Amino acid sequence: MITVMGATGNTGRKIAEGLLAAGVPVRALGRDEEKLAGLAALGAEVRAGDTVDPNFLADAFHGSDAAYTLLPTDQRAPDYPGRQNAEGEAIARAVQASGVRHVVALSCVGADVPTGTGVILGLRRQEARLRTIPGIELYLLRPVSFFENFYGALETIRHEGVVADSVEADLAIPMVATRDIAAAAVDALSRRHWSGEIVRELIGPRDISYREATRILGERIGKPDLQYVQLPGADMVGALAQAGLSTSFAETYVEMTRAFNEGIVQPLHGRTPENTTPTTFEDFADELADAWRATDRTAATAD
Ligand SMILES: NC(=O)c1ccc[n+]([C@@H]2O[C@H](COP(=O)([O-])OP(=O)(O)OC[C@H]3O[C@@H](n4cnc5c(N)ncnc54)[C@H](OP(=O)(O)O)[C@@H]3O)[C@@H](O)[C@H]2O)c1
Repeated sequence: MITVMGATGNTGRKIAEGLLAAGVPVRALGRDEEKLAGLAALGAEVRAGDTVDPNFLADAFHGSDAAYTLLPTDQRAPDYPGRQNAEGEAIARAVQASGVRHVVALSCVGADVPTGTGVILGLRRQEARLRTIPGIELYLLRPVSFFENFYGALETIRHEGVVADSVEADLAIPMVATRDIAAAAVDALSRRHWSGEIVRELIGPRDISYREATRILGERIGKPDLQYVQLPGADMVGALAQAGLSTSFAETYVEMTRAFNEGIVQPLHGRTPENTTPTTFEDFADELADAWRATDRTAATAD
């Protein structure tokens, strides 16, 4: 049995589905029974509960051969780093109490940097918590920006006609498809072939700038002139707050994008065959374009 946290999210759903497809029994965790129903239909044991509840988690990890852990952290949390800490502490306590030995934990490139990386600092603190658990075999997945973040841009394109963020327009950075993160996790969780601590970076097939990604997306959705706009940090905080996210999250996010702009967030040894993953942004842009057309139809129906 493998326990998968966040099983209705970007990475967890693909990991749960990948394990089930390989015939591995899965206990899928989320917070909403209805959203977990699809995985139950595929044969998963599903459990809904809160990630800050160590008893729920310890019970869910108990008897598992391995667990996939992540910090889901609500971007509306009034104290975002505090919420990351609460989730991280609950997970670490539950891992220790349950005795699950093999843990594959979602972190991020840049978790080696001790200050100034915003969201990534919370993941660094979680790596440190897990590392201190006696007897744990720890596989740290360190991807970078998910291609899936561009789903959030579709709304901005509809309302503002642009893609906007606080990352420099022409800065080529690594970005990765969550399906490639899931593939690495499924492999580690099912084989459990490591001992001690492994750091596995996953950085996509090539570095790509927001301007280039925006151009590719624009071509796919019939807007070849779609522009990327780099917002100053304060404006980005305002835009995220206006979208309903907490100021605490917005500031933590902008600190992370500043770290990208300053070149602080980097793979440990540059790009290597081991950290390079196969799915291209062009492949992914087709999925995004499907989602764009679906929201287009929804908006047209609502008008
Ligand atoms: N986005 C990036 O570019 C990036 C890059 C590197 C690392 N990361 C890290 O990736 C993590 C997020 O992973 P993801 O994108 O796979 O997840 P996600 O898509 O954000 O989904 C989060 C999952 O956790 C569940 N969840 C949310 N709040 C919960 C709660 N209070 N109790 C129980 N379950 C809860 C969600 O359920 P519902 O479906 O019901 O919401 C969902 O299944 C974060 O730690 C982030 O820092 C992100």
